[in-house]
Parts: sequence; structure tokens; C-alpha cells
Amino acid sequence: MAEVYHIPAMLPETIQGLNIQPNGVYADVTFGGGGHSRAIMECLKDGGRLFSFDQDKDALRNAIDDKRWTFVHSNFRYLRNWMDYYGIEQIDGLLADLGVSFHHFDCPERGFSFRFSAPLDMRMNQTAKHTAADIVNTYSEEQLANIFRLYGELKNGRNIARNICKVRAQKPIERTEDLVAASRIPAEMSKELARLFQALRIEVNDEMGALREMLVAARDLLKPGGRIAVLTYHSLEDRMVKNFLRSGNLEGTIEKDFYGNNLSPFEIIEKGRTACEEEVERNPRSRSAKLRIAEKR
Ligand SMILES: C[S@@+](CC[C@H](N)C(=O)[O-])C[C@H]1O[C@@H](n2cnc3c(N)ncnc32)[C@H](O)[C@@H]1O
Repeated sequence: MAEVYHIPAMLPETIQGLNIQPNGVYADVTFGGGGHSRAIMECLKDGGRLFSFDQDKDALRNAIDDKRWTFVHSNFRYLRNWMDYYGIEQIDGLLADLGVSFHHFDCPERGFSFRFSAPLDMRMNQTAKHTAADIVNTYSEEQLANIFRLYGELKNGRNIARNICKVRAQKPIERTEDLVAASRIPAEMSKELARLFQALRIEVNDEMGALREMLVAARDLLKPGGRIAVLTYHSLEDRMVKNFLRSGNLEGTIEKDFYGNNLSPFEIIEKGRTACEEEVERNPRSRSAKLRIAEKR
């Protein structure tokens, strides 16, 4: 059977929420399988443009053959630099569908999933310096425990980190199955294992750092009336996006004027919508998606 690269979550809701201007300039900073990008392209006329980013060059196999479309093989944290490079001062809208594609989870040799035996890699950008194995074998027990607690929301992150450190003192942990065994998480606790792998993936790819930088760049690039749509998949990134869109800053501080009016640069359009039952049934991986949309004032 042909590989499904990705099934986009909440596609109609996202496209509708972006309120696409037919001759506008758009950025889809997480191209992946290109489902959202293709839907954006369908709304654009001759004067429209779409810049689609992906740090994984595998995504290029889904390239769109259209002169209005540009692929940017880069981390989205460099959004501002790339827009400057292309001479784009403002954009009409931006979409970020965070995290990884199905392709990442389902491609055994990339090491994103505990379901397959593979080297512990987990880099979205295959040329990045540090793999998951580097982190597992070099971070202190405390650093590992913090990652597991923060990014994996694993209550017993401290014990898991201790177990890993005991095993690696004998022999480096190089493969997915070595990590599963070292963690001592029972095989039937697949949710816990998924959280352990998620935590490492977030750290390997510095997902929170990249998100922070991209949000600030997006705020500054959006035209008044332009919209930002973000699909999040875990509570930490969702909280960051929610606070940023409410306040317009990374601290989440809502500035008010003398009369108590909110001075945030954004008006909230969509407050964390989730996929409908029918979509979750069709595409179970859409279960954890949350859609947030805001319009620049
Ligand atoms: C959930 S998928 C996007 C799927 C896409 N919306 C579709 O319709 O197929 C996320 C994609 O964004 C990419 N990605 C994640 N973080 C990134 C970052 N910081 N910079 C660039 N690309 C990133 C991943 O490589 C992955 O292909």
C-alpha cells in the first residue's frame, strides 16, 4: 500500500478561518504532506503567493508545481530572514500545523516511534547536529527528568531518568528498543511510551524555542486584518500559543489602556477548537489537535 504522508487536521475549519485574500501573500510554515498548502493555493488567484516551509527535505516529494508557490527548506524560526530575502514586508496570513507528519511516525528508520526497531534519531532536519541518542546518553539525570516531566507530562519522569542513567552507565543507549527497555515502562503502557518519545522529540528539535521565535516574527509580519492559524498537539505548545495570541507577547502579559481596554495586537477568532467526532473517527490522529486563530488589529 502507498504510504500516506499525512492527513491534514481540521482542513476546512483552518482554511475558512484564515479568510484567504485571493491576491494575498501567505506562509504555511509546516508544509509536510502539503494538504493545507494545496487548499490555500486553491483559494489564491494569479496575484497570490504561498511560501511553504519545512525543515525536513523529505517533504519536497509533495512539491506543488505552480509558479505562485515557493518551498523554503528551513526551520520556521527563520521566517523573518526568509521573508526579507524574498522581499516580502508583510503577509496576509500564516498557518502553523505543529509537530511531525504521519510520515515521521510511520517511517521506521527515522526513530520517532517506539513501534519500530531503529536508531534513536528523531531529527526532523536530518542535518541537525544532535540526535535523540545524544540526548539520552549525555544529559544529566536531572535534565532528562525535567524534559520527561515538562514535554512528556510523565509523572514518574524522575524514575524513568534514573533507570535510563543506570543502563547507559553500562552501555550507550543507541536504539529505540534499548530506550524502551531502559525506561522500564511496561510495553502495555503505550501512552506512557508515546509520551517518553514525544518528550525527546520536542527536545531534539527544540520545538518550543522555534515556536517562540516564529510567533514573534509572525506577529510583526502580519498586515492589519491578516490572520494567524495554529494547530497545536500538546498542552505546553497550546498554552504558549494561547497566551501569545491573547497578549501579543511571549510573557503572556495583557497590556490595558487607561479605560481597561485590551491592547493586544490580536483579536481572537478561534479559541482552541477541536476536531469533530466524525473527523476523529476517520483520522484518529486528529484527536489531540487544537485550532487557534487570531486576526491582527
Ligand atoms: C503536522 S505536519 C504538517 C502537515 C501539513 N499541514 C499537511 O497538510 O500535510 C508538520 C510538518 O512541519 C514540519 N516542521 C515541524 N517543525 C518545524 C519547524 N520548526 N520548521 C520547519 N518545519 C517544521 C515537520 O517536518 C512536518 O513535516
